[in-house]
Parts: sequence; C-alpha cells; structure tokens
Amino acid sequence: MKLSEIYQLAIEEGIKADLRGEAVVRKKLAKIKEAYEKLDAEQKKEFDLEKLVNPYSDTRILHDNGKEVSRIIVGIDIDPQELLLAKQLNYDTVIAHHPEGAALADLSDVMHLQAEILAQYGVPINIAQAITKERISEVSRGISPVNHYRSVDAARLLDLNFICIHTPCDNLAAKFLDDYLQNKELETLDDLIKALKKIPEYQEAIKRKAGPKIFAGDKDNYCGKLALTEITGGTSNSKDIYEKMAQAGVGTIVGMHMSEEHKKEAQQHHLNVVITGHMSSDSLGVNLFLDKLEHQVSEIAAFSGLIRIKRV
Ligand SMILES: [Fe+2]
Repeated sequence: MKLSEIYQLAIEEGIKADLRGEAVVRKKLAKIKEAYEKLDAEQKKEFDLEKLVNPYSDTRILHDNGKEVSRIIVGIDIDPQELLLAKQLNYDTVIAHHPEGAALADLSDVMHLQAEILAQYGVPINIAQAITKERISEVSRGISPVNHYRSVDAARLLDLNFICIHTPCDNLAAKFLDDYLQNKELETLDDLIKALKKIPEYQEAIKRKAGPKIFAGDKDNYCGKLALTEITGGTSNSKDIYEKMAQAGVGTIVGMHMSEEHKKEAQQHHLNVVITGHMSSDSLGVNLFLDKLEHQVSEIAAFSGLIRIKRV
C-alpha cells in the first residue's frame, strides 16, 4: 500500500461519514472547482490543488518518501520525539491524528462545516455562519505564529512516511456516536453517561481517569434534544453559539472536550453538557479508520495517547 492510497481512503471515509451528508460535501467540492477555474494564472499558482478533491484542510500527506507502507505506528499528537521513537522501532510510516504542517496552518478552514451541522440542529444558518466565521478568523490568527513544519522536517530527515488524518476520523466518531445514541432510549443525563460507558474506548478511558463526564447539568436532568456539535469540525466554536443553540431547542451538547469559559456560557443558557473525553473520542474515530487498513498492511501499532480497539 502507498501513502497516497491511505490519504485517498481517509478522504472517502470522511465524506461518507460526514454529518452534513455526502451530497452536500460533493456539491461544495464542485463549487470550489468552479471557482478555481475562474481564477487567473497568478491566483492558480497559489491555489492548494488538494482543495479540489479533499474537503478537509486538516488532513494532508506531510511527507511521502514513495516507499511501500508496511509497518505503521499511529498516535494522536506527533512531535519530533514520536518520530524518533517510530524510527528507532523500525516503523516506516507514522499517522498523526492532530494536524501538523500545512494541515495545522489551515486547520481553521475545516470549521465551516460546523455552521452547516449547527443548522441541522435548528440554529438559523445565517446566525451559525456569522458566529462560526468570526471564530474561524480568530483560530487562523491564533495558529499563525506556530512552528508548524517542525515535525514535517523531522519526518523528512528520518525518511519516514508521515500523514495526518483529523476531520475524516472525527467524522467517523461523530457518525458512530450519532447512530449509537439515536438507537438508545435516553431520558436523563445519567442514561446518556451509562450508554457512553458501554463503548470500549470510554471503558479504557475510565481506567485512565478520563471517562465520560457531565460538565453542566445534573444526572437526573432530562437530556432533551441531543446535539453532537463538538465532536467534529476542527476545533471549538465561539461560546456565543450556546445562546443560539438553546434558542434552537437543543437540550444537551455531547462534546469531546470543553473549556471552562465555554462551559460557564453553556450553563448560563441552561444547556446540559456531557463530555465524552478527548483522547478516547479521538481514538474512537481513528480506530474506525484503522479498521479499514488493518488487513492491508503488515502491522498497525498505537502510541501517543491512542487507545487502539479493533472492530474487525
Ligand atoms: Fe482531538
């Protein structure tokens, strides 16, 4: 298997699991293509051609040495120390979940999908888009001083294949949780927490003291309408969105992680918040993707926070 095949598989799986639906994503790709064709030669030179086929700016091949992928090691965060470890242990390919390189620098672009998901939960699209847009520019400026090529340079010098797969995996986790929770009779937050605790990644997280938790609300609170708005879409939206979500009839936010400031704002608008856990939820999505690779390579190992659970 080649690294480019893993990349293509990630895009396809990400699109199939996208909460917005495959048709919406494909239509957006077609629009980008249309806009690209209207650019002049100078503008085309600067255009990232991956955007014509890949709707997820936080997912990119970071270094492809052209060699066959055989022994893969996968982690949530990959810094030069993980790459050195991978080389020492004779792995030929490293998969990171969190973005690095150009995928990190352009992470904010993927956040547009949050507005469309919020609209599915009843927040008017104009409001969701305006709030998300403001947050996108804030995230983009926040990332700009980061030394985002540090790990990419290390992978090149170590001659390792290196790729990061972020939103496609988060989409797989969001889709899995959406299907799983929709099939359950959930009355209270306690029912929701109990249901989450049956998922193997969360069982392991409980042992690691990082299991699912209620951040806002009491365990006997009614769940009301669940919103899986903080599982996928790059990084956290603005806290201003919570007032609009409450007005749209959302009862409980199910998210991977939430800052104290965001939690307070959600609480103020009487929203319940259930946090599934960051590393465990990232692991869930990464696992669902790795299951598709499992029989195509000779080995897949886990490190850097990844809780590897196989479902194949
Ligand atoms: Fe994450």
